[in-house]
Amino acid sequence: MAASAPGKLILFGEHAVVFGEPALSTAINLRAEVFVRPHREWLADGASLDEPRFRYVKKAVEKSNAPGPLWIEIRSMVPSGAGLGSSAAVTVATLGSLHSLAGSIDPPTIAREAFDVEHEVQGRASPIDTSTAAAGGGLLVLRDKQENLLWSIERDSRRWFLHRAVLPPVDFVIGNTGISAATGPLVAKVKERVDRDPGAAAAIREIGEITLDGMRALEQRDLVSVGHLMDRNHALLTELGVGHPALDRLVSAARPSSYGAKLTGAGGGGSMFALTDRPSKTAEAIRAAGGKSFVVQADSRGVAKIG
Ligand code: PMV
Repeated sequence: MAASAPGKLILFGEHAVVFGEPALSTAINLRAEVFVRPHREWLADGASLDEPRFRYVKKAVEKSNAPGPLWIEIRSMVPSGAGLGSSAAVTVATLGSLHSLAGSIDPPTIAREAFDVEHEVQGRASPIDTSTAAAGGGLLVLRDKQENLLWSIERDSRRWFLHRAVLPPVDFVIGNTGISAATGPLVAKVKERVDRDPGAAAAIREIGEITLDGMRALEQRDLVSVGHLMDRNHALLTELGVGHPALDRLVSAARPSSYGAKLTGAGGGGSMFALTDRPSKTAEAIRAAGGKSFVVQADSRGVAKIG
């Protein structure tokens, strides 16, 4: 059995979404594939599931109560530690292949299990990454239920409503700083700031407003406004302490040939992306500034069986 799931790009609202603010993401056409077959012992890529690099896979196996032992093979096009949802894509694809063993794939069930896995492995988190990998396409996370609801997910006193968002077909140019930063400590750092600094709490709320304005501007295909909102979102994330000089370098290099640019995902390194109608030029500018760059498009497919 085998299943795949996409990586993602958070367009607006990372970090703020952990506090229940809105966020907008899209699945991208870089996917993780996971293959499973019965074997005489549990293995992942031929090694023990106890190795730290397989902690998401191991938790996913525990969550799904899959009959084993199994040999699990993981292939991922999503660079890890780059803010592009690599662990969520691998977790969701693993759950997809384990569920296929028992019958069918149900994206809402997989989204909930994958969020539990991420929460247990990484600590405080929102369901945006795991739900985007499960659902594919554009996703708008809101505090309340509105039209186009896909599912809702609860944790402690927080509840997220995940909605389908229809986005225009645009090119996104990603710039990876090559500096890998773990999400958990960055999320914890923002929480610590918000708890003691009213300015940081205000930044979180403003990011929530930017997300809703950004969604409206995307619906109207007003890419100039989308770009300005991206630039402002980047500045607020930097104020919250999740920026990095390398991210600023890539963002500045991308802006002259694009509508806007911002960091994406947890920050502290990782990646930025630009919205542009001159993708080759923007990609070249990012490369010249020392980043690894590639062009991606939205992927409408969420978790899916292979074959
Ligand atoms: O960098 P990633 O792919 O782990 O994205 C994290 C997004 C955050 O908002 C920072 C955390 C979360 O769980 O929503």
